[in-house]
Amino acid sequence: MPVTGKAPFALLASIALLGSTAVIPVTPGFGQDAPASQAQSPARASWEAADPAMEKFLDELIAKMTLEEKVGQLTQLTSDWESTGPTMREGYKNDIRAGRVGSIFNAYTAEYTRELQRIAVEETRLGIPLLFGYDVIHGHRTIFPISLGEAASWDMKAIELAARISAQEASAEGIHWTFAPMVDIARDPRWGRVSEGAGEDTYLGSRIAEANVRGYQGDDLSRPDTILATAKHFAAYGAAEAGRDYNTTDMSMRRLNDVYLPPFKAARDAGVATFMTAFNELNGIPATGSKMLLTDILRDQWGFNGFVVTDYTSINEMIPHGYSVDLAQAAEQAINAGVDMDMQGAAFLDHLKELVESGRVSEETVDTAVRRVLEMKYRLGLFEDPYRYSDEARQKATLYRPDFLEAARDIARRSMVLLKNEGDTLPIAATARSIAVIGPLADSKTDMIGSWSAAGDRQTRPITPLQGIRERAGDGVTVTYAKGASYAFEDGDKTDGFAEALAAARNSDVVVAVMGERWDMTGEAASRTSLDLPGNQQALLEQLVATGKPVILVLMSGRPNTIPWAADHVPAILEAWYPGTQGGYAVADVLFGDYNPSGKLPMTFPRNVGQVPIYYNADNTGRPYTPDVHGQKYRSRYLNTPNEPQWAFGHGLSYTSFAYSPVTLSSDTIRPGQPLTASVTVTNTGARDGEEVVQLYIRDLVGSVVRPVRQLKGFEKIALKAGESRTVSFTLTDADLAFTRADNSFGSEPGAFKLWIGTSSDDNGQEADFTLTQ
Ligand code: BGC
Repeated sequence: MPVTGKAPFALLASIALLGSTAVIPVTPGFGQDAPASQAQSPARASWEAADPAMEKFLDELIAKMTLEEKVGQLTQLTSDWESTGPTMREGYKNDIRAGRVGSIFNAYTAEYTRELQRIAVEETRLGIPLLFGYDVIHGHRTIFPISLGEAASWDMKAIELAARISAQEASAEGIHWTFAPMVDIARDPRWGRVSEGAGEDTYLGSRIAEANVRGYQGDDLSRPDTILATAKHFAAYGAAEAGRDYNTTDMSMRRLNDVYLPPFKAARDAGVATFMTAFNELNGIPATGSKMLLTDILRDQWGFNGFVVTDYTSINEMIPHGYSVDLAQAAEQAINAGVDMDMQGAAFLDHLKELVESGRVSEETVDTAVRRVLEMKYRLGLFEDPYRYSDEARQKATLYRPDFLEAARDIARRSMVLLKNEGDTLPIAATARSIAVIGPLADSKTDMIGSWSAAGDRQTRPITPLQGIRERAGDGVTVTYAKGASYAFEDGDKTDGFAEALAAARNSDVVVAVMGERWDMTGEAASRTSLDLPGNQQALLEQLVATGKPVILVLMSGRPNTIPWAADHVPAILEAWYPGTQGGYAVADVLFGDYNPSGKLPMTFPRNVGQVPIYYNADNTGRPYTPDVHGQKYRSRYLNTPNEPQWAFGHGLSYTSFAYSPVTLSSDTIRPGQPLTASVTVTNTGARDGEEVVQLYIRDLVGSVVRPVRQLKGFEKIALKAGESRTVSFTLTDADLAFTRADNSFGSEPGAFKLWIGTSSDDNGQEADFTLTQ
């Protein structure tokens, strides 16, 4: 059953209690000036094309609607089905019947959506079809690796395919709209929701945002196997202070503009149909009430034409934030800021009519929002055939298609990151006659699909690593399984499973320890102050290594963990994330060398939580620390730990090796309109075929504001046969060098730059210098 963590009842009750009649004057976005736009000419998706017939249809329909019916279109409620959170209203079917709801979420299957749709179409005055939304995040039935894992593939085709398949499955079950992709930049692994996004980097995150939008929406929204995507959570939710979910975000407009907003802008330019607001406040204004975000930036600067939905009861939450005195005021602030649809809060449902009647909200504002919502229903073809997504035959033919399962396996292995491989411990040698498979995640179906796995089956379908290893090892190899340890926080001191696990290890040629976090230790409301292996896993791992057998650690987790001991003492470490329905096969493919790992970290792995936040594209200090120069007391450093992370952003090994030639530049200067090409020849110098993610970073040496020490500006994943070479070229224009300058304008600045092309963000191997001139 999907767990869609929601505000507890108690919280909602307290929100209700806070209601009062006093009204505070509203000045949405007061004190927040939007930073300058990042691009001047917004792109247009095919669904944004002018459609006079649609405009006429919408004009006529809206003219017929009562104010109550309009408010209904701006109201989204959860079904009671498989919802783990509170339902704000009893009898949502009655709400549908009365035209009080325009969208339902957490309802799927062709049969169920058809039943609800029938009520909307046949039993309401105007027969406006419902829009069904759902959290299809990394798969619908066939589950792919968690989003952070997908990001680690750096494989845009794979990510697009995962979204495409998700859309095919979800749309066959009546779903029109997914609340994905989450494009929040996340630099703090304590935050549990890092698992749902693309990691710490703006450039990579932007490319992934586009790939996802393409995958879900395709290029034609009127096709019944495409669904609306959502760019969420707008904005800066990933920067919650101390990594505690829902916490305050306070940041400079420059950082917002340069680091946190670009993936949203990329989603918008890729034609994303909807945006979701965030739970957090940003610089004092809750995102759901932020006119700066929802109107000044999203509409006025970016020209966004879709609609904006709130996060789950986030209008109501402006009361505990201390931004709204009661729900009426919260509703007023939200819609006047630019919200179109209220998810689950019933704030619009209960207050919008009176707000219009009293003149606090104009009917024009309501009409604009209604039109945006109805337009999406129209573009999806729902006015033509409201049941086109609720097709039982298609559902039967689509779910868990063999090619989907094959793709899930392939994407899972592409997502895995080989963190360490001393002495070629991996792949497992063909001579190994016995393998001990140990750990709480080795045979746990429940954990395989991670959090936010929508309608994924947690009980029967997932293939565990144990099963994958058993099937691959075949009859000639003895595979012994012992759970051995527990990831439960409360089991930290227990040792009861150790003896069995150690005996299995001693009797085997190789030990595969599958350890990490329980699936729900990441995701929403799953922040941690320790990133260590939870429970008694660390203790068992140390004893396994002490047996003297070669130990391979397969880490399953939804965030960077801190495993400094393992980094020093375990010869081989593979980050497998939560790899999805076919994950166990994918793990076996990598362990036995049937697939040569090619994933790269989308997030820095710290040594310990005290280094957090730690990310590769930081600014330089005035007292930078250089480890190889001694006697540097008054430097920016820790006394007890190196500054460097355990593993840098972009890191990931292969079973083969790659050599990079020196960089050649087409010119040592870039002029506006005159790009520069940087090329490098990469050679597979090992004995196996493999894939490499070639990464290009730059540094702007001096700016009107301090510039990051390194920024990713390009990457390409290439496949090279053993011994093969390929030249990879990147084109850089002055637009790639743009940032929010000291005067808050957006653009590049002439001056000197450094450029690196290499295998990771900490690869200093191949560098070059160039200048930007005017
Ligand atoms: C989450 C959103 C999600 C929504 C609907 C919220 O709790 O923050 O990401 O889309 O619930 O389930």
